[in-house]
Amino acid sequence: MKREINVTDYANQITSAIPHGVLVTTRNGDRVNCMTIGWGTIGTMWSMPMMMIYIREGRFTRQMLDASGEFTLNVPFGETKTKKITAYCGSRSGRNTDKVKDLGLTLVESDLVKAPGIAELPLTLECRVLYKQLLDKNAVPEDVRKSMYPEDVDSSNPMANRDYHFCYYGKILKAYIIE
Ligand SMILES: Cc1cc2nc3c(=O)[nH]c(=O)nc-3n(C[C@H](O)[C@H](O)[C@H](O)COP(=O)(O)O)c2cc1C
Repeated sequence: MKREINVTDYANQITSAIPHGVLVTTRNGDRVNCMTIGWGTIGTMWSMPMMMIYIREGRFTRQMLDASGEFTLNVPFGETKTKKITAYCGSRSGRNTDKVKDLGLTLVESDLVKAPGIAELPLTLECRVLYKQLLDKNAVPEDVRKSMYPEDVDSSNPMANRDYHFCYYGKILKAYIIE
């Protein structure tokens, strides 16, 4: 069952959870992939509720997002322990393995997008990408550039590397908790 929520009532839960790791789930054809994010912004843009996520150029998720234009945000809520899931989805690439299968995640069909929700991280936002933009390297503060975008680290590295982030603006179409 999905219990629909007003996303602003849960903004605190969402913003508190993000730095500890939440998932972005994408689907392209039969392929479903989950990736951990630790940065994200929720708010209003163009008078629409918007979830902004920041995805480095080399991530498999970037390809999936560009192909499908949709994602779900999957936020831990309630009792389920999710550290193992977010650690796994934040250190393996969907290019090399099927993380959903490896972890035995429970997919729940979405109502308005093709990307499914994940029962183990039940607070769900269904989002459609309206806009994306690559961060302007020259406008990033120098200390941030040095620590977050080290030129000598290959883009396959799951942590900081030379790739800059694309910001994806995901219009929040629906928000609910999977129960
Ligand atoms: C806690 C945590 C937070 C992360 N946050 C981000 C993020 O906000 N953006 C990003 O591009 N990668 C982030 N990563 C790294 C990706 O999750 C990781 O590279 C992942 O393997 C990419 O999966 P994919 O290639 O299947 O898309 C994070 C990793 C962890 C463990």
